[in-house]
Amino acid sequence: MEKAPRCAFVIFGMSGDLSARKLIPALYALHCDGSLNDETSIVGYARSEYSDKQLRDKLKKALKEYSSSFDESKWASFAPRISYVQGAYDKAEDYKALKAHLEELGQENHVFYTATPPGAYQGIVSCLAEAGLNESQNGWTRLVVEKPFGNDLESAKALNTHVLKQFSEDQVYRIDHYLAKETAQNLAALRFANTLFEPIWSNRYIDHVQITMAEPMGVEGRGSFYEDAGVIRDVMQNHLLQLVALIATEPPTQYDAISVRDEKVKVFRAMECVHPKDAVMGQYTRGGDAKGYREEDGVDRNSRQATFAAVEFRIHNWRWEGVPFYVRSGKRMTQKASEIVLRFKRPPHIPFKLNTPLKADRLVLRLVPNEGISLRFNAKEPGQGADMKRVSMNFSYDQEFNRPNPDAYETLLLDVMMGDATLFMRADEVEAQWRVVQPLLEWWENSDEKPAFYEAGSWGPKEADSLLGKNGRYWHHPGNGKK
Ligand code: BG6
Repeated sequence: MEKAPRCAFVIFGMSGDLSARKLIPALYALHCDGSLNDETSIVGYARSEYSDKQLRDKLKKALKEYSSSFDESKWASFAPRISYVQGAYDKAEDYKALKAHLEELGQENHVFYTATPPGAYQGIVSCLAEAGLNESQNGWTRLVVEKPFGNDLESAKALNTHVLKQFSEDQVYRIDHYLAKETAQNLAALRFANTLFEPIWSNRYIDHVQITMAEPMGVEGRGSFYEDAGVIRDVMQNHLLQLVALIATEPPTQYDAISVRDEKVKVFRAMECVHPKDAVMGQYTRGGDAKGYREEDGVDRNSRQATFAAVEFRIHNWRWEGVPFYVRSGKRMTQKASEIVLRFKRPPHIPFKLNTPLKADRLVLRLVPNEGISLRFNAKEPGQGADMKRVSMNFSYDQEFNRPNPDAYETLLLDVMMGDATLFMRADEVEAQWRVVQPLLEWWENSDEKPAFYEAGSWGPKEADSLLGKNGRYWHHPGNGKK
């Protein structure tokens, strides 16, 4: 078990949802498994007034709700790590109290985490610098910036410039939690720790790639956030483009922050900016018991915001020329499922006399649920003749490794404390990702085209089927293993 060096882990926005649902449960899990240093302190900073005791009580309640392994005695040893400083995010004066508190704790290493609304990031960075908290005399200082990193290409560039005036790039950890999902990490292992897959991982054998990230929930009280973000900013520009990059990257020379990110940036640079004709923007309407998007709190009754998008991405390089990457995501879809499908080409010549046309092989990487990998291919049915049956080879994390996968945030927070930035985004990487979706955003925001409506609880608008259908392809719906 690796133990992280001791530090003060400062969370801006400690009273918010992200801290309650993800950050505190992740730190608590690291405490329970022994990887959080015994001397590490957790400092909350927010505008609301709390005593240490009040904050601890609030977090205990959250842990009971969001952690799968709450234990009273573990909590008793975890709670004393937590303390609180009240202050405004953009008042340098208030950071004096934070600085004094950190000095009192006697920690030489500091992590500062922006779990606040994105509008507060610039102020936090300026105030940390003004208080001299952007560097440490005898240890290290790291800044973790939550997504969304910017609202478009221009604002992402401006935020990078601002952050990099006060912190050096190797101090900055831009989060995308999809990178820390086990299957996402296992993609590198599948490709680069085996010889079996890499030779067929190109336009010679792959017909197309599909990525689906479907969610049954709606905007869950985040209506006004979602009105600004929409699906492209919320998940396409970050989580889904990162998955595209993991599939498409060339083998890095080392699995480290420099080589891995260099290779991903090359993929984003080789990507064509999305053309509106290659995208379907959808919005959910009422279905079953679920409200339509326009009926949600904080949402304009005539909103055109997209809660679903299906996009065809193209990568212009030697390996991927001619292989479309179809990526879709939506709120209020049938089920929670994220998966990557590689559909192979049909054999160039089929020597059998078949009654039904041969289906192409497919490799499915499941991120959620049932993390694992399946290969679906054709096998001869026993007996005379040469009829083919579709069969599967399956690998499931649950069955193979007898322990639960860590939550992505556990992996990421530990990586920050260990100083490993491989699973975080670099400045040039975030900007390259924005460049790819920028034309799509601009077109959508300046057009008056109606979204393609789909009923809550469905697989999205039928227009998304046509995106593939026009080339004789079809979506693989997660859970529908038999196709
Ligand atoms: C977040 C998005 O980044 O990712 C949410 O803001 C989305 O809208 C969430 O629901 C999905 O993450 P996960 O890990 O539950 O698939």
